Amino acid sequence: MRSVIPDYLAEALGDVEPDTAGQLADYIPELAAADPERLGAVFATPDGEVYGAGDIDTEFTIQSISKPFAYALALADRDFGPVLAKVGVEPSGEAFNQISLESDTGRPFNPMINAGAITTHSLAGSEGMNPAERVERVVRGLSAFAGRPLRIDEAVCVSEMEHAHRNLAIAYMLRGYGILTEDPRAVVEGYIRQCSVLVTARDLAMMAATLANRGVNPLSGERVVREPVVRQVLSVMSTCGMYDAAGDWATQVGIPAKSGVAGGLIGALPGQIGIATFSPRLDAHGNSVRGVSLFERFSSDMGLHVM
Ligand code: DON
Repeated sequence: MRSVIPDYLAEALGDVEPDTAGQLADYIPELAAADPERLGAVFATPDGEVYGAGDIDTEFTIQSISKPFAYALALADRDFGPVLAKVGVEPSGEAFNQISLESDTGRPFNPMINAGAITTHSLAGSEGMNPAERVERVVRGLSAFAGRPLRIDEAVCVSEMEHAHRNLAIAYMLRGYGILTEDPRAVVEGYIRQCSVLVTARDLAMMAATLANRGVNPLSGERVVREPVVRQVLSVMSTCGMYDAAGDWATQVGIPAKSGVAGGLIGALPGQIGIATFSPRLDAHGNSVRGVSLFERFSSDMGLHVM
């Protein structure tokens, strides 16, 4: 049965390939220069089987797909109470780069939008870490999820920092509310470095499979985070992972998921599967157009909808 999976994946890719809807992210030159035709999909199982088709070893920046994993690291490093005190778990219903802070406390609605992710980055690692140590902790943690050492795309970092006005504004607001306690610029820089980690669709599938395998990387056998952390992360992915398209996603796909602006998309189902797709053209919500189509198909063909 398993040997038919690569053919199934190749057929699914062939069906969505002609769809050229959507736009590349163009707020920095590096993303605007991506090859829009790239297309890949990978399934990884909790017992370490990996099946892929298309562009599964092409590197691109992880971007917002880093958010659930950095949230996992913050929960693991600081525990639930201190993290929940600073970042909520409610869908914002707004775009990922909206300010979206609770009006009385300034607490970001959730860790998947930028406000929450910038805060989450500041909570990874231990309290006294300097910004470089924190980034190192995050890159090491993302690498443990992937099961191989990941590196940062420095050119993307430089460009992102030049266009980070909105994230800087959000971070200064967070500092004003006392949600951030460190230099806002340094935290945004760290968050951008986290988003600029290079991954392939294969890496993303392994990261998703580590969530599906309840915190243990299926290939390395390393326990990256504890089970309660995984449950928290998957819960927030299912309500907030697709931003203001979260409701459509929940009804049509029904898999905890996270998208990134470079075209990556992951989904994870505990005990079953980690899925990743890569296709750079995005819809109005910032989610990969062909990635969403592929997930709709996978969910329907394999009965993966959790509801
Ligand atoms: O914060 C930003 O704007 C980007 N570096 C990451 C945003 C992102 O991936 C949004 N997801 N679709």
